[in-house]
Amino acid sequence: MGAPLVLLLLLPLASAQTFGWGPCKTPEVQANFTLEEFVGSWYLVEKLPAFFSPGKCIQSNLTLVENDTALVTNRHVFFGREWHFDGVLFTPHSDQPAKLAAHFGRFVPPMPDWVLATDYSSHSVVYSCMDFFHVFHLEYAWIFSRSPSLTPDALRRCREVLEREGINTSRLQEVEQDCGEPPRED
Ligand SMILES: *[C@@H]1O[C@H](CO)[C@@H](O)[C@H](O)[C@H]1NC(C)=O
Ligand SMILES: *[C@@H]1O[C@H](CO)[C@@H](O)[C@H](O)[C@H]1NC(C)=O
Ligand SMILES: *[C@@H]1O[C@H](CO)[C@@H](O)[C@H](O)[C@H]1NC(C)=O
Ligand SMILES: *[C@@H]1O[C@H](CO)[C@@H](O)[C@H](O)[C@H]1NC(C)=O
Repeated sequence: MGAPLVLLLLLPLASAQTFGWGPCKTPEVQANFTLEEFVGSWYLVEKLPAFFSPGKCIQSNLTLVENDTALVTNRHVFFGREWHFDGVLFTPHSDQPAKLAAHFGRFVPPMPDWVLATDYSSHSVVYSCMDFFHVFHLEYAWIFSRSPSLTPDALRRCREVLEREGINTSRLQEVEQDCGEPPRED
């Protein structure tokens, strides 16, 4: 497929995304990352606009299947209904364990899913960027929490991780987590 057609197809999507000129950034990722500690349940608290993460009460449950692969179940609530999207999170390069890739569906290419920072027990900052011929890129960022909300202080530190990498946090959107679920006890 020629570049102009690809660009044309992406235009409507690009308008709802975070678009930037030039190639993707290469942010620093979490040192000594282990997927084993990262799996479990995460609530999405803030995100950059992305057509594929609509709705509210977004939750990702990760289950380790091998030391470098996890199954993902995403829940979204939109149009008053609960939707589930399943995928796989894997480690393309074992020497770069925090640079995960997410695969949702056979016809969609895997997307990078880089863990920029996490303490495993309360928050994580995940970043993804898709490069189009080094001409422009679309970037995504997600701030996850082990509980339905983060303290303002923790949230500020997560935003700082993104800002440190030159990612504009002014477009971050809050994800409501008010779907009547009891908060986790731990
Ligand atoms: C990562 O592991 C190395 C070697 O064990 C250690 O020196 C370093 O402090 C660790 N970094 C973090 C962020 O845990
Ligand atoms: C997973 O285990 C295999 C075999 O024990 C090892 O070679 C590989 O480096 C491990 N990968 C990760 C991401 O720990
Ligand atoms: C994630 O796991 C929690 C706790 O086991 C469960 O209550 C919740 O329904 C799960 N959510 C998804 C999206 O699988
Ligand atoms: C960040 O994005 C906002 C809104 O799109 C824009 O007004 C602002 O100038 C941007 N800041 C930087 C540093 O690029």
